[in-house]
Amino acid sequence: MLKIAVIPGDGIGPEVAREGLKVLAAVAAPTGLKYDVTHYDFGGDRYLRTGEVLPAGALDELRQFDAIYLGAVGHPDVKAGILEKGLLLAIRFGLDQYVNLRPIKLYPGVWTPIKGKGPEDIDFVVVRENTEDMYIGTGGFMHYGTEDEVATQVASYSYKGTKRIIRYAFELARARAKARKVTVCDKSNVLTYGHDLWQRVFREVASQYPDVTPDHAYVDATCMWMVKNPEWFDVIVTTNMFGDIITDLGAMIQGGLGVAASGNINPEGVSMFEPIHGSAPKYAGQNKANPLAAISAMQMLLEYVGAKEASARVEKAISDTLAAGKIPDLSAGRCPPTSEIGDMIAGAV
Ligand code: NAD
Ligand code: IPM
Ligand code: MN
Repeated sequence: MLKIAVIPGDGIGPEVAREGLKVLAAVAAPTGLKYDVTHYDFGGDRYLRTGEVLPAGALDELRQFDAIYLGAVGHPDVKAGILEKGLLLAIRFGLDQYVNLRPIKLYPGVWTPIKGKGPEDIDFVVVRENTEDMYIGTGGFMHYGTEDEVATQVASYSYKGTKRIIRYAFELARARAKARKVTVCDKSNVLTYGHDLWQRVFREVASQYPDVTPDHAYVDATCMWMVKNPEWFDVIVTTNMFGDIITDLGAMIQGGLGVAASGNINPEGVSMFEPIHGSAPKYAGQNKANPLAAISAMQMLLEYVGAKEASARVEKAISDTLAAGKIPDLSAGRCPPTSEIGDMIAGAV
């Protein structure tokens, strides 16, 4: 019995998560998958009602599941950062989901803004470090609110944290068995402490993988290459903040935020799967958001928990539906209604 915790969250989160669950229900029957879902109402509305983001004991409860499925967080009436840090980052950090796996894959039939590039050119994975960097929340204000104010936000990288993520990237390049190349994306020409550590650890780990080609690109150049020559990438490993930024760019070259999915992985613990987009408040409650990213996140979840047949069926359903041109525009408001896209994929599995 596959036990899944579902956190629909805010904005379009509940709408897209519902479609992911619809597809799960559709694929469970033919594959004999037995599962059980438990919903949690964490998010902006609950916070506004109770003043609480994550109740005491919530992380321990989440640890009891095989996987967590999340819609999106972020609420226009809640100060930025409260839900993002108190819910999303609290789970990523609390469950030590140190890998943020973000495949950048252009499905056949999907429009990319990059002229002359197709599915064979846009197929790589960003391995984003998920527990360190500027995200740790260390910092503060001096002379708050005055002309003399100074704000500090610390980026911190540990040897162990850097090593485990880089090792994961090399293992992934091996498992993908494609170009067998890992590109470390950093800013070691300026961040001469933190990214010097990254460089040293990268060389140390690379020396243990003679069958994988080590490669390097500065983050600014990475953005340029992702647009100019996306086919050069196989696996990119990068820091938390840069990984956040380059994967929104990555989403756009694979058809937009409506289709980009991610997994927050703890290889020894409980992982959480979610679209990489946010709560897109302006589309909330209108059946206009594209649920493909959430459905893809469900596909990643299934793959990760070992439900290989179910995962393969969902992936094929997405791929076939897109290849057949049934969703000609993937953007919110211009794609078919959220629930209809869910019906299409559910029907196709
Ligand atoms: P966003 O990703 O919510 O939306 C930006 C734009 O992306 C939308 O206006 C829309 O054009 C497009 N988009 C997003 N989801 C889409 C979908 N399913 N289908 C089609 N198009 C889609 O980013 P934002 O507006 O910067 O942030 C809104 C809120 O979400 C903020 O509170 C932010 O903190 C939060 N956020 C949460 C997550 C998360 O839960 N993982 C990620 C990013 C942002
Ligand atoms: C993402 C989001 C989050 C991040 C925010 C909402 C904390 O942008 O999942 O990409 O920065 O990781
Ligand atoms: Mn982001």
